[in-house]
Amino acid sequence: MPQLAIALDFTEIEDAEKFLYDLEDKDVIIKVGYSLFVKYGNAITDFIKNRGFKLFLDLKLHDIPNTVYNGVKGAVYLDADYLTIHTLGGKQMLEKAVEAKEGSNLKLLGVTVLTSLDEEYLKFLGINDNMQDLTLKLANLAVETGIDGIVCSPQEVKYLKENIKKEFLAITPGIRPSLDNNDDQKRVMDVRTAVKEGSDILVIGRPIIKAQDPNKVIKEIKESLR
Ligand code: C5P
Repeated sequence: MPQLAIALDFTEIEDAEKFLYDLEDKDVIIKVGYSLFVKYGNAITDFIKNRGFKLFLDLKLHDIPNTVYNGVKGAVYLDADYLTIHTLGGKQMLEKAVEAKEGSNLKLLGVTVLTSLDEEYLKFLGINDNMQDLTLKLANLAVETGIDGIVCSPQEVKYLKENIKKEFLAITPGIRPSLDNNDDQKRVMDVRTAVKEGSDILVIGRPIIKAQDPNKVIKEIKESLR
């Protein structure tokens, strides 16, 4: 069954802890990014793990191979279940990342081209591929190198699953349980459609963490995942 990852996009640890205390369903992945991790480090990751949640560290590592190797080792030490890494960092960097997680439960998730970038920027960089071709090229390289999953828009999942031979996990942000409030996401998809398109982990933040009753929203999403 596809899984739900909740984006824990708080800036204060007290708010994050309160939110997690109140969560009834432990069978969810909790995604922590810069906003909490840079400030609070293992205080927040230990809290998540101690309460029995799966930990998704969204740090989008991108550096020279040796530095990324040490970063991945750090995520293994924190007992993270998922860690994001930029596929643009190159094949050698991806190989070192895969080597660093060997023997652990950590799954590496590759980020291809940030959704904040556009084709005009690719041209500026001198890249002739269009966005779709470049995304597929990077995703393919990552999966072939042993990266476990690819972070992509729900609109891209089907295309990537059809064109990448090796199996991989598709992780999709930009999901809205109901389509009437998109926050600042421009290209959104509802839960059922995303699952139908092949999404394996659905990342949802504000519709849950800002809800009056997060437990109710989670229950509804889980029903749609079945
Ligand atoms: O609140 P919302 O459901 O939009 O949160 C989505 C989460 O996924 C946020 O943590 C955001 O940073 C992340 N994300 C995204 N779009 C991407 C990559 C990551 O929204 N292309």
